[in-house]
Amino acid sequence: MYGRMIHLKDSKEKEVCVITGGGSGIGMAVAKNMPKHKIIVISGRTVKKLENAINELEDLGFEAHAFSCDISIRENVTHLAEYAASLGEIKNVINAAGMSPAMGTPKILLQVNALGTVYVNQEFSKHMKEGSVIVDVSSNSAYVLPKAIANKKIFEKAETDEEAYLRKNVKLSNLARSEYQKAGFAYALSKSFVVWYAAKCAFDYGRKGIRVVSVSPGLVATDMGNLEVEEGGDLIQYSAEKRMGRPEELGFAIATIADERNGYLTGVDILCDGGSTVGKKYVR
Ligand SMILES: NC(=O)c1ccc[n+]([C@@H]2O[C@H](COP(=O)([O-])OP(=O)(O)OC[C@H]3O[C@@H](n4cnc5c(N)ncnc54)[C@H](OP(=O)(O)O)[C@@H]3O)[C@@H](O)[C@H]2O)c1
Repeated sequence: MYGRMIHLKDSKEKEVCVITGGGSGIGMAVAKNMPKHKIIVISGRTVKKLENAINELEDLGFEAHAFSCDISIRENVTHLAEYAASLGEIKNVINAAGMSPAMGTPKILLQVNALGTVYVNQEFSKHMKEGSVIVDVSSNSAYVLPKAIANKKIFEKAETDEEAYLRKNVKLSNLARSEYQKAGFAYALSKSFVVWYAAKCAFDYGRKGIRVVSVSPGLVATDMGNLEVEEGGDLIQYSAEKRMGRPEELGFAIATIADERNGYLTGVDILCDGGSTVGKKYVR
């Protein structure tokens, strides 16, 4: 018998979904909404939190791995990406790690939320192929600043001159009065950067067939969200249903955006905030 050699795609290569900040909140909720054939890698800084999350995911029938990583340290992210690539083909990167105004100084918030996103997108895209996706989690705070303050000229520095990027943004944040407002300003600057940077990366990586989308949640009832209700909860009154989001709602939205069938969805921000931003601007 004779015939042609047929090169089939290695059907044994496993698909990998990496979730930064996957040990809790929105990241963990995304993991639970992923298809079970994907290997889930969750990362964060607190090992105990990751271990608990792994146990929960395994009980639900997932193959899940934990990897400790601080996304504000590029070397950590490089190692996380190498580890994930050693497990199979990286199909999804959900960058849900982040810190809110009550959690850090302006500089720390910018280092984690903004520069961390640069490291995640750059280091993972080196390993990713056609049909894969990066979802960067931003916030509806990205929509509160005028373009005169949050603009391309300032954003671009994050890739070319990190020190200058931090200096400029910390200086802007310090214009606010209270410590919380300073951190809130830095948070908004960092999250508007995430929206801009995800869109930029969609065009940088588009030729490789990698989609990049950002998602901007409103206030969501996670550990972080509950911490912010008192000082940062004013937008809830403008939401259509006058309530916070639930982590599982964001988890489902993000897992859907990451689904391969959404292949034409790239270069945009998905504002998933119960209508708060639109309500404040146009309806009320
Ligand atoms: N909840 C809200 O109301 C809300 C609203 C808008 C946007 N968001 C965004 O949604 C994302 C998820 O937040 P969440 O509400 O799910 O809060 P969360 O439960 O506190 O989750 C954030 C996760 O990020 C991890 N993390 C923080 N800093 C990190 C760092 N430097 N490196 C690696 N991991 C880090 C935390 O784990 P470790 O501390 O162990 O590292 C934690 O598991 C964040 O980007 C947040 O800004 C949330």
